[in-house]
Amino acid sequence: MKGIILAGGTGSRLHPLTKVTNKHLLPVGSVPMIYHPIQALVNAGIEEIMIVTGGNSAGDFLRLLGNGKDFGLKHLDYTFQEGEGGIAAALRLAEHFSEHQRIVVILGDNIIEGSIRDAVDRFRNQPEGGRILLKEVPDPERFGCPVFDGDRIVRIEEKPENPASSFAVTGIYMYDNKVWDIISTLVPSGRGELEITDVNNAYIEAGTLHHDLLEGWWTDAGTFPSLLRANLLAGMKEGMTEELDLPSILPTPTSD
Ligand code: G1P
Repeated sequence: MKGIILAGGTGSRLHPLTKVTNKHLLPVGSVPMIYHPIQALVNAGIEEIMIVTGGNSAGDFLRLLGNGKDFGLKHLDYTFQEGEGGIAAALRLAEHFSEHQRIVVILGDNIIEGSIRDAVDRFRNQPEGGRILLKEVPDPERFGCPVFDGDRIVRIEEKPENPASSFAVTGIYMYDNKVWDIISTLVPSGRGELEITDVNNAYIEAGTLHHDLLEGWWTDAGTFPSLLRANLLAGMKEGMTEELDLPSILPTPTSD
């Protein structure tokens, strides 16, 4: 099993923070954002990892991470995405690295509290197909959102205006080697991207997409509010917020 972290993009939703650096190098807690998905893969027992990056500061990843010594890794792989094209287009760049083994993909701005080890083990034991992780959220319209028939997902809608459920499809995806054929059939969506949601819908149509609920908190970090939330949650996990004594430093709301 191989791990792939997607860490490209222009991070335009975070301008000007991302004008001179890559989103995944911004701080989340006491480490650069990219540390979180790497650690999540390593904690799940995945040690062969490729980072797909691009845009600003691609060279800084190498300077920061080297061969992954800080994570106990012997080696890290990197590849470079020219331009944009969506999550599935970025993933396609890792096909040669996968050697057609099964893959676990994490979006570089997805931060989790717990471990994905159990889900990865279940994926190892399923005969074929894909596996996604869902999380209940207050704002499913910001994400890929599953439509259920009982316990079964019948399709996933990308950023629906009227979400059919209160769940988000997190940016953690597990696929068998059929993913490469699926990606080659995709056509760009309305926003001009090869959508990861279309990959997941292809697995649903084949009847081979499984899902788990992710335990512990989860957040993305690609917008200002979610980046702040990621920092608060990661800081809390590291015990920083206790040291800060948040209630005492935040201004008391004035009532009128
Ligand atoms: C992407 C995916 C979306 C998924 C989300 C998770 O959205 O398109 O399906 O729920 O990541 O972080 P993005 O935030 O890149 O627009």
